[in-house]
Amino acid sequence: MNQTLAVETPDVTRQDELLQSFRSVDAVVDALRPAEPIYCLYPHVLRQVADRFVTGFPGRTLFAVKANPHPEVIRELYDGGIRHFDTASLREVALVKEHCPDATCYFMAICKLAGAAETAFVDYGVRNFVADHESEVERLLALADDETTIHIRMKAFDPASVYELSSKFGAEPEEVARLLRRVADAGRRPGLAFNVGSLCRHPDAYRRAIAAAEEVVTASGVAIASLDVGGGFPTEYPGLGSHPVGAFFEAIREAIGNGSWLGDGGLMCEPGRALVAEGQSLLVQVILIKDDMVFLNDGVYGGLSELTMSDNIVQYPSRVIRPGGVVSTAKHSYAISGPTCDSYDVLPHKMDLPADLAVGDWIEFGLAGAYTNATSTRFNGFHTDHWVRIEGAGAMPPGLDG
Ligand SMILES: Cc1ncc(COP(=O)(O)O)c(C=O)c1O
Repeated sequence: MNQTLAVETPDVTRQDELLQSFRSVDAVVDALRPAEPIYCLYPHVLRQVADRFVTGFPGRTLFAVKANPHPEVIRELYDGGIRHFDTASLREVALVKEHCPDATCYFMAICKLAGAAETAFVDYGVRNFVADHESEVERLLALADDETTIHIRMKAFDPASVYELSSKFGAEPEEVARLLRRVADAGRRPGLAFNVGSLCRHPDAYRRAIAAAEEVVTASGVAIASLDVGGGFPTEYPGLGSHPVGAFFEAIREAIGNGSWLGDGGLMCEPGRALVAEGQSLLVQVILIKDDMVFLNDGVYGGLSELTMSDNIVQYPSRVIRPGGVVSTAKHSYAISGPTCDSYDVLPHKMDLPADLAVGDWIEFGLAGAYTNATSTRFNGFHTDHWVRIEGAGAMPPGLDG
């Protein structure tokens, strides 16, 4: 056996203290008057969304941990019925196993640290891996047993997606067919995986990719053990113009047909964003207003990075909280800056907020559960590890409260 890699206890477990529970975000502001950003979990929303996938997707749903690795998020999804997790590193595997010991982890990163696959296999019982190059396939074959599925990742970028996930990873169809045959010839279970990109707006992207996958399987001449249609399912951010997730399930169901070409392992998906965006909001405070520029206590280096990365295609619905005060319904367009001493820490587009916005007001951003805390840095000493639970009857974050 090759080198193995030791993994330390994930440092995120420090966040695993019992979270304070509030009936609403207004109650959070009343009680804490928070000067630092707070992530507000809506556990009932997370569980509902998990159930939407578990009952609606025509196969197994894996949560892509990268979108939000907070232990409480993982546990709520588990309680909502998610039993399978797409993990990309040993830390993610260890995190899932610590909080949901009987969950199944899939190591779905193409690029793994030396020894990581070996430790995942031996210490954590992982039996599902992915590769797109023969060197990695051979490395996994040296490790594999009869229960191991080696998925071969196929390029599948679709222009309906906001982010592409095929320039770094994925093999061309002919090479995919060759690698599928190599796995089958070695007596192991070949799977096929693709990702149409992240934040996909149209279900036809999955129809096209599934048709391409079926062609590759036919050309390879082997029976695949499973088909992984990846993540990419959308969250309905304001102005995005995406189809609802149910339309994606329907398109995938139709495109698979009777599924006879799928082998015994069936169908799976690995959504990140669509499982967690809705069930978490981000509470921030206005710390300075200079003319038309509003400075928040969080920004591009913290929980708001995706607004920049997506060039504002991702937008968070918002609500201003001013305890004891009335907020104007008239809107004004403001530039938004984060708190760091860096001119890059400004959102790429203006945001419409109440015309009488004032220093000290709080803003709750909804749909902020994906790629917020997950990608946040500690730049300039600005960072938050503060999470609360919102559990009042009928409490809903902005974007779901209409
Ligand atoms: C391999 C893989 N699976 C799943 C995902 C999750 O994507 P999304 O959050 O768009 O569902 C990603 C995102 O980068 C990914 O790279």
